[in-house]
Amino acid sequence: MNQLKHLAIIMDGNGRWATNQNKLRIRGHEQGIKTVESIMTYCARDTDIETLTLYAFSTENWKRPKLEVDFLMMLLDKYLKSKLKVYMNHNIRFETIGDLSKFSNKLKERIEFTKEITKNHTGLKQVLAINYGAKDEIIRSFNKLLESSPTSITEDDLDNVLDIKDPVDLMIRTGGEHRISNFLLWQIAYSEIRFTDTLWPEFGPEELSDIIKNYTISKRRFGGL
Ligand code: IPE
Ligand code: IPE
Ligand code: MG
Repeated sequence: MNQLKHLAIIMDGNGRWATNQNKLRIRGHEQGIKTVESIMTYCARDTDIETLTLYAFSTENWKRPKLEVDFLMMLLDKYLKSKLKVYMNHNIRFETIGDLSKFSNKLKERIEFTKEITKNHTGLKQVLAINYGAKDEIIRSFNKLLESSPTSITEDDLDNVLDIKDPVDLMIRTGGEHRISNFLLWQIAYSEIRFTDTLWPEFGPEELSDIIKNYTISKRRFGGL
């Protein structure tokens, strides 16, 4: 039986969910927040998962129309404010990966406040990937290592400066696309990957539980026999 310590999810399909219902794409993002809450609460309450990393905004998502990007920034701030009680009630620690320097001061303050107030929580660690790109993370990490002018580096050296060290056990992508879209490239070296056609706003604990059951019995060989 495989242990599941680190679950990473590419939350895709919000826009299509909204379009399918003749709604504006931004309504899909609002609905997606409800899924975030239900999946996070399920992981904290009903599983032994230690780390839940959610891909919320990629380094490439700035290419979207300004209105959608602005709405996503507003929604992130609103989410952190209104859902703080979920983090408090379920003993969940909030962390982020990605380059925060591009965000407004107000949003950065909200992010730091949420991290600070939840930092001693001992339950689930919920990591939000925002302005995150794996290539960007790896390049930022190499540049950190270069500061001490090394003549060579090891895997451990890189691990220690990445935004997140924990290897991913299981990665899930909702929304029907079969690609990684620049998420956690180093950390998924040996992770199991599952794709589902379900759009993120329609994803729920029942389907997650089925995927986890299937993961638990899969044979992870890590190159051995
Ligand atoms: C994922 O949903 C959320 C973000 C990337 C912010 P999308 O907005 O990509 O939804 P689709 O893929 O267009 O349906
Ligand atoms: C990946 O979804 C990024 C997030 C879920 C935050 P995208 O919708 O941006 O990915 P592509 O463009 O389909 O590859
Ligand atoms: Mg998408």
